[in-house]
Amino acid sequence: MKICFLGAGNIAQAIISGLLKVNVSPRDIVCIERNLEKIALLESQQLSVQPLASVSDNMFDLIVLAVKPKDAIAAAQDITRIAPHTPILTLVAGIEIAQYPNPQLVIRAMPNTASTYNKGITALYSDNQMLHAFQQSVELLEKVGHVMVMKKEDDLHVFTSIIGSGQAFLFRILNIYLNELKILNKGNDEESIAMFKDFVGSLGDLFNQDRDFETLINKIKSPGGTTQAGLESLEKNNIESVFKEAFKAAEHRSIEINNEN
Ligand SMILES: NC(=O)c1ccc[n+]([C@@H]2O[C@H](COP(=O)([O-])OP(=O)(O)OC[C@H]3O[C@@H](n4cnc5c(N)ncnc54)[C@H](OP(=O)(O)O)[C@@H]3O)[C@@H](O)[C@H]2O)c1
Repeated sequence: MKICFLGAGNIAQAIISGLLKVNVSPRDIVCIERNLEKIALLESQQLSVQPLASVSDNMFDLIVLAVKPKDAIAAAQDITRIAPHTPILTLVAGIEIAQYPNPQLVIRAMPNTASTYNKGITALYSDNQMLHAFQQSVELLEKVGHVMVMKKEDDLHVFTSIIGSGQAFLFRILNIYLNELKILNKGNDEESIAMFKDFVGSLGDLFNQDRDFETLINKIKSPGGTTQAGLESLEKNNIESVFKEAFKAAEHRSIEINNEN
């Protein structure tokens, strides 16, 4: 499969590095990028960076659109002008398929940066899921993690809030833990980071063992103990509704971005 990335910033680089880890050849990947720093990084990975003008129909199975929402429609118009029959796999948050110049050839994906480690979760949607390019998009993104096919395009807004943006919400929480550890372990930031890495890494291992958070919590908590006191404080402060409100805010913003374009 020959792939072209238009825009090769954070998310494109995450997917590209995941693909390279499963032996996709750098010769099958071409990037179109205008940012000089990013171009240097791509070239250091032996990736080819070409101008958009060098692209034509039949050169690529998919053109992956990975630019910020403000740049997306102009970039899609450029693609449609020079390669009108090439399917576009857009990673752009918020912009609905109907807004693209050639919607029948557009597939939407919402990936996350865990794709770098082949542990991504990507939601995919197309109006025509029988399209060969849709199957190819599934195949491509399964190389960098899990794929969830959405039945309705609107479900992408919810997915974006939980998995796309949601990763950042967990980072925000984990940063509170790291800062507390650094304060306790004054002057030993490197050591704190090393301990914190194991602390976070072990959460996945523990979940793997039990696959149920209630069981995991009950293994730590004892009646009247410290964990119970902390958990009660979290409940009193409505931890669940704090998160649900954050998900709703991100979902709402995703809908707004669509309407702004
Ligand atoms: N980051 C994530 O975790 C994530 C997750 C899911 C979806 N997304 C979506 O993916 C898209 C990209 O996000 P990102 O974080 O990867 O952005 P980013 O790091 O800013 O990367 C986009 C790159 O595309 C370049 N670019 C824009 N228009 C171009 C054009 N016409 N020709 C060549 N290069 C062009 C930009 O250059 P300049 O710097 O000069 O503008 C920038 O280097 C967004 O729409 C976002 O909604 C991101």
